[in-house]
Amino acid sequence: MKQYKRYLVTSALPYANGPVHIGHLAGVYVPADIYVRYLRLRGREVKFIGGSDEHGVPITIKARKEGVTPQDIVDKYHLIIKDSFERFGISFDIYSRTSSKIHHQTASDFFRKLYDEGVFVEKTTAQYYDEEAGQFLADRYIVGTCPTCGNDNAYGDQCEKCGSTLSPTELINPHSAISGSKPVLRDTTHWYLPLDRYEPWLRQWILEEHREWKPNVYGQCKSWLDGGLQPRAVSRDLDWGVPVPVDGAKGKVLYVWFDAPIGYLSNTIELLPDEWEMWWKDEDTKMVHFIGKDNIVFHCIVFPAMLKAHGGFILPENVPANEFLNLENDKISTSRNWAVWLHEYLDEFPGKEDVLRYVLCANAPETKDNDFTWTDFQTRNNSELVAILGNFVNRALMLAHKYFDGHVPPIHTLTDYDEATLNEIPVIKQSMENNIETYHFRDALKDAMNLARLGNKYISDTEPWKLAASQSPRVATIIHVAIRICANIAIAFEPFLPFTMQKLRYMLGMNAVSWDTFGQPDILAGIRRLKEPQLLFDKIEDADIDRQKARLQAAAAAPPPSLPSLPPQKEPCTYDDFMKTDIRTATVIKAERVPKTDRLLKLTVDTGLDTRTVVSGIAQYYTPEAIYGKQICLLANLEPRTIKGIKSQGMILMAQQPDGTMRIIQPEERMENGAIIS
Ligand code: MF3
Ligand code: ZN
Repeated sequence: MKQYKRYLVTSALPYANGPVHIGHLAGVYVPADIYVRYLRLRGREVKFIGGSDEHGVPITIKARKEGVTPQDIVDKYHLIIKDSFERFGISFDIYSRTSSKIHHQTASDFFRKLYDEGVFVEKTTAQYYDEEAGQFLADRYIVGTCPTCGNDNAYGDQCEKCGSTLSPTELINPHSAISGSKPVLRDTTHWYLPLDRYEPWLRQWILEEHREWKPNVYGQCKSWLDGGLQPRAVSRDLDWGVPVPVDGAKGKVLYVWFDAPIGYLSNTIELLPDEWEMWWKDEDTKMVHFIGKDNIVFHCIVFPAMLKAHGGFILPENVPANEFLNLENDKISTSRNWAVWLHEYLDEFPGKEDVLRYVLCANAPETKDNDFTWTDFQTRNNSELVAILGNFVNRALMLAHKYFDGHVPPIHTLTDYDEATLNEIPVIKQSMENNIETYHFRDALKDAMNLARLGNKYISDTEPWKLAASQSPRVATIIHVAIRICANIAIAFEPFLPFTMQKLRYMLGMNAVSWDTFGQPDILAGIRRLKEPQLLFDKIEDADIDRQKARLQAAAAAPPPSLPSLPPQKEPCTYDDFMKTDIRTATVIKAERVPKTDRLLKLTVDTGLDTRTVVSGIAQYYTPEAIYGKQICLLANLEPRTIKGIKSQGMILMAQQPDGTMRIIQPEERMENGAIIS
């Protein structure tokens, strides 16, 4: 196996349009953090790069809904996310953001180099445009009927009901998810990365040279490659993002998935302005991307193709993507508020960062989707952290205090059993190394836990308290061995439970730790006197868990917090367009409900010219009694329409707020019926 001089570890840049939840932590940030903490303990040179992904359509939509700018949205969530990671001990060397100047420059230069070298293919295609919102619609924002299964809520890229992959033009009866209007096709020009040209190279690089990638990652790559790669657009019509640095590309930005992975590079440049090139260009750097499974194609196929096209950069050596974490047997969903948010967890369980880190690693979705349940969280805390790890450490330290006043007694003679116990330690260490270096963090955590199991068994088998009465020198040996296991635990668990291990090191009086000392006979060399033991973990009660379960249900039942917003101004209309309308005053002289509907009223109106029937969808805002006798404004020359079997001639003008509330429009004072409105 190749020996690398340094490690560049990245973790997916989360979108700054919401806080982060346990799924993010379990899938990406906990494993990445375990890996880098382990490498640092081993004395390897490593940089851990993170940041927020601040571009993309969803951020602009959220901003529009909340009536603020996209910058406001990302400023808010960038801080919340950064703070959550810090509080959970995710030990980034830098956590920056893609709205930074340095990123814009880096991404822009990257694009420009590929553009200048003629890498891109320029294509003009017809894409759906929302005339009401005044923007092109990303595939996700076109909703319509699935041509395969008839689901009315299929998206322009996929039907979530039957799973078919779609293109927006295949949808039956498409409409915009932004304004609800019917989108029209408009020509637009974009730049495409011709992935098809990189296919032979990618096949060789992944399928032949990286057979060791995790089966879920390798499998997904293989199925993409076997399906044949298509050119992918790397620009979008949008006013939020990195502007396309080409003349005449006004109103176009880099596609978010083009600029975001370049964020790893920009953030490295920001962190190491003088030596970033060594980290990105020297073959002795091992680059590893930690991501979730929905990011595989971008990190294994698109980004490597970009790096290859650019030239001069190393490629990822591994992409240990995880599957998804579910919550209480259901998909985590931001829109349904079915999630455990990190900032909320920290408020609910202060000081228990490591408990969540432990549970999420022990139950990480490494090979398949997994489920987080509050009951499992409680069980793992109470019967593993408290009963095994915490219990062993506490027993060992108590014994040293009870019989040796907090000193570590010297070994007298080791029995075969003592030797066999101590010999387990390097075996566990070796297994942890193999597991961590092949990204099997759950197994590595089990290994570490086996140290605590070993210690508990050792104390139970040797029963030092029985010997103590007889002043046996054996007691000193047993306690020495037990404390030695504790010291090894302080190293083994450091990547997993950094806060707790800091406490344990303090109690043991261990200063700096390194992986090298793990398993060494002289691991206790620097230790003078042990501090009073404190419990490392507390039991979590049923009531705490019941509260969390209830919270989750209540939050999911609450309506989504976002506010309705004003629709933007429509496309211009000409004076002549407007003059075609014939709007007049009229009076309601009869009003009744349309049977079997709750929205419609059948109105008879006097227009001054005639008496006619108009069906109007205002029954939620006006009773027949309330509207009877009122003067209204009528669009008189609207083509007649038959609604619920009633011929309706004209439309009553209403004002409508974003929340749906409607009121009729009236002249300021009563006028003759039939007066022209213009
Ligand atoms: N923001 C993306 C997501 O949450 C991940 C981007 S990873 C990056 O799915 F490297 F491309 F930034
Ligand atoms: Zn379908």
